[in-house]
Amino acid sequence: MLRPALGPFLKWPGGKRWLVREHPQMFPAEYKRYIEPFLGAGSVFFALDPTVAVLSDTNDELVNTYLALKADHAAVRQLLEEHHAAHCPAHYYSVRSDQPLGLAHRAARFIYLNRTCFNGIYRVNRLGNFNVPIGSRGSVVRPEDDFAAIAARLSNASIRTNDFEQVIDKADEGDLIFADPPYTVQHNQNGFIKYNEKLFSWEDQQRLALSLSRAVARGAKVVTTNAAHPTVRALYEVENFTITTVSRFSPVAGARASRSSFEELLVRSS
Ligand SMILES: C[S@@+](CC[C@H](N)C(=O)[O-])C[C@H]1O[C@@H](n2cnc3c(N)ncnc32)[C@H](O)[C@@H]1O
Repeated sequence: MLRPALGPFLKWPGGKRWLVREHPQMFPAEYKRYIEPFLGAGSVFFALDPTVAVLSDTNDELVNTYLALKADHAAVRQLLEEHHAAHCPAHYYSVRSDQPLGLAHRAARFIYLNRTCFNGIYRVNRLGNFNVPIGSRGSVVRPEDDFAAIAARLSNASIRTNDFEQVIDKADEGDLIFADPPYTVQHNQNGFIKYNEKLFSWEDQQRLALSLSRAVARGAKVVTTNAAHPTVRALYEVENFTITTVSRFSPVAGARASRSSFEELLVRSS
């Protein structure tokens, strides 16, 4: 039975909510497991609502947030409501410098900071500490929040902190991989790639294209997005992939003046 559409509960750079809405034909109707190795806000996972899923990202605090919601969404909501009531600059900076223990406390801190920091950016310093200043928005708990529904969607998902290659290498015949990596080439100047203390390198892009090719050779279905740069395109101009280019507006580009249109590659196994 179709469940009502669920949007992402996090604001995340490079979010792909638009992809399912504008290009539904990119995604096969039938597949075994849904595998998303660069989870972020999981917009495509929530939109497709697969029966069985493997969700992964290298951002440990992000992954912890999904695990906490799956384990005890009511506890996370309760703590989030406490942050909501206490929200002010002093509370924000105190929470930002805090390192709470326990799944639910860490998840509530993560969602709170995501919803109140400047522009929903995720950025950490060399020590791995979140260092984004407070933003102008103060809504921590929102009317549309349905953490019970999110937990229900996550109930059949295996959720882990892993590098993409380990996850993709486990994909088998009939599985669907949706891979939305950080874009390393064209957008290096506008903050798109700094999700973690470790940057996504060009070698990572090459490693990704090779691991996706291996998965296709095993019979997996692949949908992947990337920057429309000739060097990236060349990685996918190989047998078994079809490439299309679409125009998008950059949603997280800092100064309004620099919000410009750019092109993205949509690649799928043929
Ligand atoms: C463009 S975002 C994904 C956005 C997501 N599709 C959405 O709709 O919100 C890329 C994600 O890749 C993660 N990441 C960066 N390097 C990674 C790696 N080597 N393996 C797995 N995930 C990685 C980042 O933490 C980030 O969450």
